[in-house]
Amino acid sequence: MVITCPHCHTDHNIQTNQIPEGVSKVRCKECKKDFPFSPATDKKQQNSGPRKIAVALSKGGVGKTTTAVNLAAGLAMAGYKVLLVDTDTQGQSGFMLGLNPQAGLTELVNKELSAEETIIKARDNMWLLAGGKSIAGLKRVIDRKDYGGEVTLAETLTRIEKNFDYIIVDTSPGWDPIIVNVLFYVTEVLTPVSLEVMTLQGLVEFLKSMSSIQKYNKDLSLGYILPTFFDKRVKKSIGILNKLEELYANNICNPIRYNVRLSEAPANGQTIYEFAPGCNGAHDYRDLVRKVTGKEKLFM
Ligand SMILES: Nc1ncnc2c1ncn2[C@@H]1O[C@H](COP(=O)(O)OP(=O)(O)OP(=O)(O)O)[C@@H](O)[C@H]1O
Ligand SMILES: [Mg+2]
Repeated sequence: MVITCPHCHTDHNIQTNQIPEGVSKVRCKECKKDFPFSPATDKKQQNSGPRKIAVALSKGGVGKTTTAVNLAAGLAMAGYKVLLVDTDTQGQSGFMLGLNPQAGLTELVNKELSAEETIIKARDNMWLLAGGKSIAGLKRVIDRKDYGGEVTLAETLTRIEKNFDYIIVDTSPGWDPIIVNVLFYVTEVLTPVSLEVMTLQGLVEFLKSMSSIQKYNKDLSLGYILPTFFDKRVKKSIGILNKLEELYANNICNPIRYNVRLSEAPANGQTIYEFAPGCNGAHDYRDLVRKVTGKEKLFM
């Protein structure tokens, strides 16, 4: 990523994964002055183009789509321009937003349709590049390539990303050429970890697979671990949360509580802020938006 010194305005090309953890300031090589820096705070303000965050874990049903949609919608409400990219054959992001897009990511990558025809406005400040069944065809296109298949998605998204502050990518469960493509494109990964079931094992496996991609995409890092389906009445839930806090202290977010409103909102085609703005789910996702942007006063 590129960061700009606020004193002398020199641009510095740095690799985020080479910065030691806990660093809060850096020194400009040009003017030798210190300035604050935090990889987890608002990188857009540091002139580095959009932040590109994949919501991913190989395990199914952990809250990836719920998180991608409500994180994207929350960022849009905060005034950022957000593109939500759905890379799942289930195409549920569109459904959750009450949309029924006829075309999306596959048609854009295959150059069958333009960005104007495939990127649809979902809400104020928020656009959707839809997934769905056609993603299966995209997988075949990637598989057939002799070389460069893993950057197919990056080549397309890099062309259109400049109009946005955040690109949030929803991913499908499992490990396939599409998730590999996503990890060649994004620089941050947000991993929802369900506390309802034992997903720690799945997380460790996923992080191992992710590290094989980090050898090629040096800017890729695990940004956030998001505990989901938290229920403080369930002992196991607290146990897994404590373990996660112990293992991933630098990446952990406040948990998203189990909240029946979150499971009802999609059927109404509404984000949680529209469907039940006062519920625990809306409260928890607003907190996530504050964490991701580093803006503690948002929505207060
Ligand atoms: N915190 C929560 N409390 C209650 N229900 C939730 C919560 N988060 C998500 N859900 C519900 O759980 C189900 C699975 O969530 P979601 O679809 O977001 O998971 P996913 O990881 O995207 O699944 P998949 O791997 O199939 O893509 C959905 O019905 C959703 O509405
Ligand atoms: Mg999903």
